[in-house]
Amino acid sequence: MATTGTAMDIAAYLRQHEAKPRLRFITCGSVDDGKSTLIGRLLFESKNLFDDQLSALERDSKRHGTQGEAMDYALLLDGLEAEREQGITIDVAYRYFSTDRRSYIVADCPGHEQYTRNMATGASTADLAVVLVDARKGLLTQTRRHTYIAALLGIRHVVLAVNKMDLVSYSQEVFEPIAEAYRELAAQLGIPHVTCIPMSGLAGDNVITRSEKTYWYTGPTLLEHLDRVELDAADASAAFRLPVQWVCRPDQDFRGFAGQVATGSVSVGDEIVSASSGRHSRVSGLWLGEKSITRAGEGQSVLMSLSDEIDISRGDVIATASRPPEVSDQFAAHMIWMNDLPLLPGRPYWLKVGTRTVNATVTEIKHKVDINTQEHLAAKRLELNEIGHCNLHFDQLVPFESYAENRSLGGFILIDRQSNATVAAGMLDFSLRRAANVHWQALDVDRNARARIKGQVPRCLWFTGLSGSGKSTIANLVEKRLLASGHHTYLLDGDNVRHGLNNDLGFSDEDRVENIRRVAEVAKLMVDAGLIVLVSFISPFRSERRMARDLFAPGEFIEVFVDTPMEICEQRDVKGLYAKARAGRIPNFTGIDSPYERPEAAELVLDTTALASTRLAEMVAERALTLES
Ligand code: ADX
Repeated sequence: MATTGTAMDIAAYLRQHEAKPRLRFITCGSVDDGKSTLIGRLLFESKNLFDDQLSALERDSKRHGTQGEAMDYALLLDGLEAEREQGITIDVAYRYFSTDRRSYIVADCPGHEQYTRNMATGASTADLAVVLVDARKGLLTQTRRHTYIAALLGIRHVVLAVNKMDLVSYSQEVFEPIAEAYRELAAQLGIPHVTCIPMSGLAGDNVITRSEKTYWYTGPTLLEHLDRVELDAADASAAFRLPVQWVCRPDQDFRGFAGQVATGSVSVGDEIVSASSGRHSRVSGLWLGEKSITRAGEGQSVLMSLSDEIDISRGDVIATASRPPEVSDQFAAHMIWMNDLPLLPGRPYWLKVGTRTVNATVTEIKHKVDINTQEHLAAKRLELNEIGHCNLHFDQLVPFESYAENRSLGGFILIDRQSNATVAAGMLDFSLRRAANVHWQALDVDRNARARIKGQVPRCLWFTGLSGSGKSTIANLVEKRLLASGHHTYLLDGDNVRHGLNNDLGFSDEDRVENIRRVAEVAKLMVDAGLIVLVSFISPFRSERRMARDLFAPGEFIEVFVDTPMEICEQRDVKGLYAKARAGRIPNFTGIDSPYERPEAAELVLDTTALASTRLAEMVAERALTLES
């Protein structure tokens, strides 16, 4: 029965299959492994063909439907919604089918290299992975990569589907070595349950029904295995965790916290704690949709009210009072890089963990992993599809658990702040306690006192522009003017700072990121000391200029774009560097083979082709001082 049904069909379908245990699995393989044929057969022969239109309809009925029904759909779509918000499921097709024993959700992940991110998306909620290989080709790099990601994402059950057996005469001699090599790989990666099945999606051997042609094979068919495999039951002893998705406040008298129970269970009357604030309260009510309930367990999307007015917001975690989750801002983590542009340590990204979004930087790449050999390799950056072990720093304390213990509170994605693209998926391994042991020292003399005695409002004047654009010339004139009017200043110049503090850095993207990070931190300290700081660095990337800006209070950071066209910088070529770069003697030269991202909202844009440097310097000095309050 092929169905592209109406919302009513879906509702009926869901009710009918609601009671059955559900298995979520992903299928992955390389291009041409015959995955579509296999899935098609599985869906077709199990007589429950539901296509993507159905899931689209479900989403719609969830969005527009009545609440009671919506809750059912939410159960089915749990986990998908958050990913969809980030727009990263676009290439993963979710399909639904069922047998007498189970209902299934299949995440079908395309096999191309660039779709690894989709595989990670699908795998993050799956119980089992079906990894396809072509019997003629055996294990490929993609097979190893997918298996590695599955293991990393906590999948404990893998089926190796050795497909296209019809093309190797159903030969046991072909099958066994592939199965053996795969079992070895899975053992290395710590995947405990592996089943290897010889099959042909095209001819239908061992997909649903047992094939005579593989008389030497005594194991289950794919569907038999899916139907019978014993999954790890939800851990009844796990501590209760509810990451708060939103706070519901329909009127003055009611405040509820909505979210999906990540682990454990909770009953009305239980003592809970807000992981962020450490404040305790008791559960006064629980609802599943409109229905009031007394107890909620893992996987249920609930609304909770508390007996006290304690401060809890989106992103917080409500937990069993006696066993709260850890809170930290420094982590060791694994991640899979999914973007064409590489990961640059030191660059700030948004990081989404549980229901919380924070600013995060990768402070160090410990190593990357060679997918074929599991070897650890030194790395300064991560490129597309590379897997790295990194240290992370968040800008705030966040309740978390290791991914191994709790997928919801330990899994994260990184989002690029400029493009909004999801650039990595990762897993928190453990907290690094460094920052926790380094406390802020409370100081009696503060920033205001230091500024007051100098009689000025401290600022950071950030000059950005191409090499030879005139940044340093103008910054130098500005400093002279400010000094002449009795102000306390300091000029941080790229060329100079690179001789001292930053003499270990070159001009690769990652070194430039670190260059700017350090000088921004220094500028911040100087502003804290009460100075007017002038920073004159090419600072070619928007991300890092934004990072610098974010270190300061509103109004304190003044971005000055010295907008001299490339041709003119090159004509002037004061230091003779453009000529050398054109001759190929300086690699990664800004404007030639390394990008300069023009500011989009600089406070001041200086046109050096229209006005003299002295006039431009006056404008900057004026701007720096007229803002004085
Ligand atoms: S930034 O890109 O990291 O902000 P910074 O301002 O510190 O650069 O240093 C730029 C100066 O280094 C230039 O003015 C130039 O004198 C010198 N330089 C040497 N090599 C390069 C290069 N590859 N690209 C740009 N500037 C370079």
